[in-house]
Amino acid sequence: MKELIFITIILMSQIVSAQTYNDSKMKLILDLRTKADRIQSTLYGLFIEDINLGVDGGLYPELVKNRSFDFPQSLMGWYTFGNVSVKNENPAFNQNPNYLEILPTGHWVKPSGIENEGFRGMGFKKDTNYNFTIWAKNLNRENQKIQIELINSHNDCIGKTELEITSSEWKKYDLPIKSTCEESKGKLRLFLISEGGIAIDHVSLFPSETFKNRKNGLRKDLVEALQDLKPGVFRFPGGCIVEGADIDTRYDWKKSIGSVENRPVNENRWHYTFHHRFTPDYYQTYGLGFYEYFVLSEDIGAEPLPVVSVGLACQHQNNKHVPLCDLEPFIQDALDLVEFANGDTTTRWGKERVKMGHSEPFNLKYIGIGNEQWGKEYTERLELFVKAFRKKCPDVKIIGSSGPWADGEDFDYLWPEMKRLKVDLVDEHYYKDPQWFLKNADRYDGYNRKGPAVFAGEYAAHATNGINNFQSALSEAAFMTGLERNADIVHMTAYAPLLAHVDGYQWRPDLIWFDNLRIVKTPNYYIQQLFSNNKGTHTASLKTEGKPVIGQQGVYASAVYDEIQCCYILKIVNTNPEKRTIEIELKGILKKSSVQTIQFATICNNPEVENTLDQPDRIIPQFTHQVIPGNEIILTTNPYSLTLYKVIISK
Ligand code: AHR
Repeated sequence: MKELIFITIILMSQIVSAQTYNDSKMKLILDLRTKADRIQSTLYGLFIEDINLGVDGGLYPELVKNRSFDFPQSLMGWYTFGNVSVKNENPAFNQNPNYLEILPTGHWVKPSGIENEGFRGMGFKKDTNYNFTIWAKNLNRENQKIQIELINSHNDCIGKTELEITSSEWKKYDLPIKSTCEESKGKLRLFLISEGGIAIDHVSLFPSETFKNRKNGLRKDLVEALQDLKPGVFRFPGGCIVEGADIDTRYDWKKSIGSVENRPVNENRWHYTFHHRFTPDYYQTYGLGFYEYFVLSEDIGAEPLPVVSVGLACQHQNNKHVPLCDLEPFIQDALDLVEFANGDTTTRWGKERVKMGHSEPFNLKYIGIGNEQWGKEYTERLELFVKAFRKKCPDVKIIGSSGPWADGEDFDYLWPEMKRLKVDLVDEHYYKDPQWFLKNADRYDGYNRKGPAVFAGEYAAHATNGINNFQSALSEAAFMTGLERNADIVHMTAYAPLLAHVDGYQWRPDLIWFDNLRIVKTPNYYIQQLFSNNKGTHTASLKTEGKPVIGQQGVYASAVYDEIQCCYILKIVNTNPEKRTIEIELKGILKKSSVQTIQFATICNNPEVENTLDQPDRIIPQFTHQVIPGNEIILTTNPYSLTLYKVIISK
């Protein structure tokens, strides 16, 4: 006997509490006899960029800002006292040449030392160890001593230790410091407590608690939040930072590997892109570089998707480009990246990966060439990359760009060009208001099936003031039913941007917000999670009156089949302020014996409602389980809700 089990998952907002519900009925037909297309494992993915202090200051939890003194203002982030100066002769690291000389003041009550302010402060947890490392040497062949302190926002010392500098050559010292209190706006102080001089470089402080407890690894709560999304693909490292405001400041992956101490500091264009959100202390350390991005992709179970420069600077900012005749090194960099990811130890770049600790290949299958580029400048460069890749790395799928806009002249020029160049996927970006997302839920229904597939590589619904409210999330959910329905051509998608520090953001909305100690998942995060964790393996036909469900009576819906769980999963978005009763007819299934319901629900009275660091759980999915007997499937969706129904067929 076949048993159908319905599992209902609802993310809903009871926005209008005192409304009279107009409970109109709607009939949907889930036709199990129609031909299904396979859903790509990459359908729901992630896109990361170092914007909003998302990487330096966020996911990469180095607490010391400007740890190598190589920001253009070499003491940015530091306060010095006593006798301290910046030097660069005989440096410890040639690509980050600056270091500090700390000499005694000559008076024992007046020490020389430095303080670092961190990234909008430093977060310390109570009774937790922090890994302090420093490169140092004594300057007069005698052992010297420094005191290292964790300081809270009231200037109290909440953790300290001493270190003896025993070598007159550059040497790395490594020791733990325990914080005795919790503090989110702390700082680091160190000062000389002996009578000779020292030189110091690469002063670093990491939480000992990191993802998988890797030494100087990534911020645990943030990586776990990414993991919980079960992303199928991970696009990195940008975004506009791939391009750079100038060619020289593009993201050069080769500078982001090897020992962290010698990865040269690069500017981060987000420090000046928005003058209303100036972030002058924003630089890239590349501490989280390409090797770490590949490892992270592996950790979160996603296909890595690096994006490389096509030889054009950010076209929003200027028209600087590498002449075609000089493009070869850029193409070679991209080919070398494939070797770094997939090559064995007999290859130059494969050997580099193995040296860094990953003997197995990363199994790179995709590469993005250019971010938001447009015009002939782009296509004529891309063409050279495509030719080289087809010849040397024919198995790697190439992702081209359709420019920064969802439609218009550049978009209309680029799509046919992408077809001509036979790229495998085309990256589309759209940051629009929630209404646009509702109106465009049918965007891909009419797309030509004969060209490249679609990568909706950056999108987000921008509600007023860029708030991550429930309204924006629900409009994304409605749109995503269209992504899912068209999964035969839409192979990858990603919300953007991913991460934002509440005290250091440039761009909003963002999927996950954090401060130095806490994180908050937005309603948009939960929508992504609901779709991604229930994406199924095949498309399924769900219609009302013979048509896909795209806003009829304010309802948007899609269905998938999951061959592993042996179930159908229906996603129904009710954008009405009233509940809707929906009858589901199953064509192709003869008998059902029970319906099980799991409900994700939230209660609030305002579509503007958002989760905050202080109230992170205002809008969270809630599961309920219930068994509905009988043969009829009549479901009631709540006002302003996303409801997932799982129909499990037992064999
Ligand atoms: O996601 C933020 C920015 O938006 C990306 O860097 C860029 O690709 C787009 O313009």
